[in-house]
Amino acid sequence: MCKNCDLKPVYKTLNDKNLCKSCFIKYFEKKVLKIIRQYNLIEDKDEVFVGLSGGKDSMTCLYILDKYLKKMGRQIKALLINEGIEGYRNKTVEDAEKICKELKIHLKIVSLKKEFGKSIDDFYKNYKGRPCTPCGIFRRYLLNKYAREYGAAKLATGHNLDDEAQSIFMNQIKGNMALSAKLGPATGVLVHKKFIKRIKPLYFMTEKEVTVYAFLKRFPINYIECPYFHNTFRDNVGRMLNELEEKYPGTKQSIVKAFIEILPKLREQYQGEKIGTCKVCKEPAAKERCKACELLNRN
Ligand code: FES
Ligand code: ZN
Repeated sequence: MCKNCDLKPVYKTLNDKNLCKSCFIKYFEKKVLKIIRQYNLIEDKDEVFVGLSGGKDSMTCLYILDKYLKKMGRQIKALLINEGIEGYRNKTVEDAEKICKELKIHLKIVSLKKEFGKSIDDFYKNYKGRPCTPCGIFRRYLLNKYAREYGAAKLATGHNLDDEAQSIFMNQIKGNMALSAKLGPATGVLVHKKFIKRIKPLYFMTEKEVTVYAFLKRFPINYIECPYFHNTFRDNVGRMLNELEEKYPGTKQSIVKAFIEILPKLREQYQGEKIGTCKVCKEPAAKERCKACELLNRN
């Protein structure tokens, strides 16, 4: 029975507490608001955009931020990048449009094909590297560029605890601690006037919790995955962590909690890393050209 009200439980927390539907929803939202306050993710006059994909994570993030900010008489906006992936993105775009219409949230859609002359499907026809990596680079590039052009102070994404544990592990395997210094509930070390700060309100929520929340809230979601995702580095690390979690419950949470403890030291070490401007598109870039221009061979 639910530990609070004796109703039928729908979820068992990591510390073995059973919760019914309404207690789970309360628990979930309370925890997200705590993350927002604890890390000061949203300040008073911030114009907040949510990077929406139409999946469960970003939809949950959108829903809770909207609820939270509406209470204060404020509004959020949503930004979606349509990468052009047949049979996948068109479906999630429809879902995103549905929820934005329902919640009366202004949604901006940016087409990767319009911006770069080719869709992700077109791009992958001649691409030999790991899929999903270029897509991530293009998506982050466009989210940052358009969030800024539309006047955002913060860009919220639906990254959850599982995503963060994967990123921490992936950087560890690659031996790239500078990349890890950029993780955390709010982006950190790189400063460039064209960078919009990113925030992750679902930072401590597990993938399972987000899935249950989205399901209970009946969000209009097709639970589909990017067709290119299978067997990528992230996919494999995710599977490995799932196996560990199964054997040792709480593994992912411990990874992220331990990481948060060392994050200030990491940031100290990589603080002030210089970031320049791409000579082609004038967006922030670590080298002469940004990663998007490199991938697209733009000179
Ligand atoms: Fe975009 Fe896989 S190609 S997420
Ligand atoms: Zn560029």
